[in-house]
Amino acid sequence: MGDQAKLSAGDQTADFAVLKGSVGPDVVDIRKLYADTGMFTFDPGFTSTASCESALTYIDGEEGVLLHRGYPIGQLAESSSFMEVSYLLLNGELPSQQEMTDFNYTISRHTMVHEQLLQFYKGFRRDAHPMAVMCGVVGALSAFYHDSTDISDPEHRRISSHRLIAKMPTIAAAAYKFAIGQPFLYPDNSLSYTGNFLRMTFGVPAEEYELHPAVERAMDRIFILHADHEQNASTSTVRLAGSSGANPFACIAAGIACLWGPAHGGANEAALNMLREIGTPDKIPHYIERAKDKDDPFRLMGFGHRVYKNYDPRATVMQSTVREVLDALKVDDPLFETALQLEEIALNDDYFAEKKLFPNVDFYSGIILSAIGFPTTMFTVLFALARTVGWVAQWNEMISDPGQKIGRPRQLYTGPVQRDYVPLEKR
Ligand code: ACO
Repeated sequence: MGDQAKLSAGDQTADFAVLKGSVGPDVVDIRKLYADTGMFTFDPGFTSTASCESALTYIDGEEGVLLHRGYPIGQLAESSSFMEVSYLLLNGELPSQQEMTDFNYTISRHTMVHEQLLQFYKGFRRDAHPMAVMCGVVGALSAFYHDSTDISDPEHRRISSHRLIAKMPTIAAAAYKFAIGQPFLYPDNSLSYTGNFLRMTFGVPAEEYELHPAVERAMDRIFILHADHEQNASTSTVRLAGSSGANPFACIAAGIACLWGPAHGGANEAALNMLREIGTPDKIPHYIERAKDKDDPFRLMGFGHRVYKNYDPRATVMQSTVREVLDALKVDDPLFETALQLEEIALNDDYFAEKKLFPNVDFYSGIILSAIGFPTTMFTVLFALARTVGWVAQWNEMISDPGQKIGRPRQLYTGPVQRDYVPLEKR
């Protein structure tokens, strides 16, 4: 028999199995807690609760480690491609050359969207936030691809996964084009996944689009850095939505909605806005004081993380990528200097050290994306594009799990106990 955990409350005692993962903290299996004791656990924000079993991504927040299927994120960002990482996340192993060629081919054959779907954009106001457009258009995919929504059929799941990954760049680029009033571009399947996205975003039908290799590489690396991140809020949203049997397009739309929030995917937009507000390094001390002030809602955006209590390994890659992109594009962005100094000052400040607040992936990404030419409103869209593969892989893992159940948390009820209705005239 493996390790056991004992819980005593009042005159009750119950034993629970302790489960071990391949690495990481052990987990107390409390599935029988309610049946055995009539009690629930209380864990708002899931700070101590493992909501599922997963073999996709591992994070050691104390050490600043992020692994996809065992491979360190730094190695993947340096040597792999977003398509290869996508294959790895979906299938569990790195592809052979033939498997890579086949996967690239399959994804490139799904890049077009149903022509009628493009009509949807015209229903939005031009000044709509592109994330609002993404929620609507991705949700609408389920109305177009009925032939891949039977979630009990592995082949349907495979096709819908490929469709989502392949169509996301087309949908995201169209959201941008609609906002600026330019015509949509159709995909060009002779380009890489990322090159095709850049062309659909920044190209125009009137002339040839010239891909900048350094930009294509940086963008691909940003996609790798955002591909998956364990059971974060949007991934948990996708799993929860999917646990009821909802189709994958609807589930990913739910993930996009969750990602939009400033505490999650919206943070890179907020981080760049913050750097612009700070402006020059001489203003940094003022903003550091504001971030430390309990009565001021201001937080240092791009700093802090629920899981990382050390440097986010993605921020390390992001910081070196900023230099590469600014050099390649010959852009001198003074905000990079402000960001570097802000990081240094914060890391040497007791408040941030005690609370273990370090730069996260969003701290530097805004500077790169802005140098490439993206408006801040597109930042979270890019995150959604890249995270789609993680969402889809996690959703597939959940559906394939024979022990999967509908997600249905319990609560600690603190409202009124039963009372009788009083007619309006008697109140
Ligand atoms: N600036 C100043 N203080 C902070 C910050 C920050 N960025 N982040 C956390 N703190 C403080 C909190 O005020 C709190 O202080 P207290 O203990 O005195 O009350 C303490 O640190 C712990 O913070 P919590 O919000 O309780 O930690 P939690 O794990 O719930 O939040 C979060 C993590 C939401 C990411 C938070 O650090 C934050 O708001 N950061 C800024 C937003 C951001 O960059 N989000 C991106 C996350 S990465 C991603 O989604 C890809």
